[in-house]
Amino acid sequence: MKQISVELGARAYPIYIGEGLLADSSLLARHIPSKQILIISNEIVAPLYLEPVRQGLPGAEVHTFILPDGEHGKNLENFNRIIGRLLEYKYSRSCMIIALGGGVIGDLSGFVAACYQRGVKFIQIPTTLLAQVDASVGGKTAVNHPLGKNMIGAFHQPVAVIADTAALDTLPDRELAAGLAEIIKYGLIRDPAFFLWLEANIEPLLQRDRRALAHAIERSCLNKAEVVAADERESGARALLNLGHTFGHAIETALGYEKLLHGEAVACGMLMAADLSVRLGLLEAPAVNRIGALLAKAGLPDAIHPDASGAALLANMKVDKKARDGMVFLVLLKAIGEAVLTADYSKDALRETVNRFLS
Ligand code: NAD
Ligand code: GLY
Repeated sequence: MKQISVELGARAYPIYIGEGLLADSSLLARHIPSKQILIISNEIVAPLYLEPVRQGLPGAEVHTFILPDGEHGKNLENFNRIIGRLLEYKYSRSCMIIALGGGVIGDLSGFVAACYQRGVKFIQIPTTLLAQVDASVGGKTAVNHPLGKNMIGAFHQPVAVIADTAALDTLPDRELAAGLAEIIKYGLIRDPAFFLWLEANIEPLLQRDRRALAHAIERSCLNKAEVVAADERESGARALLNLGHTFGHAIETALGYEKLLHGEAVACGMLMAADLSVRLGLLEAPAVNRIGALLAKAGLPDAIHPDASGAALLANMKVDKKARDGMVFLVLLKAIGEAVLTADYSKDALRETVNRFLS
């Protein structure tokens, strides 16, 4: 088992990474003083992984809340239903929430934990690659509003993250690739040696080699943990974790969040950010080919989905969370392994990039 610490002083917490950790009751026991536990999961993940987790909690009062699958369930209605259930069970402020699932379950459960009685403890047990390398780490919790994704939320750190690499065996191929996009992101923004490793190891990762996956998850979490420790509330460096996300969110919004997975949209967005960086003279042209080649090998899209129009995309980019006083800040690349947040780019160059990636 690998262990990483997210260094946040009194709120520091471990990330455990390894095979079979879901069923390791000693790990849960280390972090669960409470007898009142609510496990939140969904109808896909619960039949696969709920029982081993539940068996690791002997002597506790354990309830479960199982949601339907999908991003559409990450909303205030379900938030309210879960809070109602906690009240019905008369759970006190010392109760514990366990999030068992992908980023949807993690974000919703984390927001419940942030709000119930002004904040209770929670543990993340992420079961998608994307959630293991990104969503479960760093304390961003949220639900969606009909007018915007993740627009209602809070920063609330978990007390532990337990990433079981064996749980990835059942993950659909497209979901695995979506997680690889976020892994590649860490290489691009701050870890050039990791990017080289990914170029050499993309095949074993796609074949779900457990050692390769564990290494990629560890390195990703190390990178994320360092960034979060330095800038928990995203007043600076944490924004760099959004490489490709302004483009990606704009593509997702244009498509109504149905045709592409988040990681797929981000992959295309990272390539667009690299292309724009070259147009602005920040990045050398061959880097874009290397990035494009790695994303393509991972089975990720290298063009904007044909159902999204360029005009819609440019309009959507203006309502990004990184917009300040009408300026849309973008994460761009100065090299593979070095990112910069800037609003210093011409609208013409941005339009040329969007046009180049329209299929
Ligand atoms: P998801 O939670 O929808 O999971 C993807 C699919 O995989 C779902 O159908 C799920 O039921 C299924 N699944 C999960 N684990 C499985 C397993 N082991 N085997 C088989 N199927 C499994 O999506 P996701 O990609 O994990 O997360 C996306 C969400 O995360 C979005 O809501 C996004 O906003 C959020 N997110 C949050 C952060 C953050 O920092 N908080 C970062 C990135 C993304
Ligand atoms: N996923 C971006 C962040 O956690 O900041």
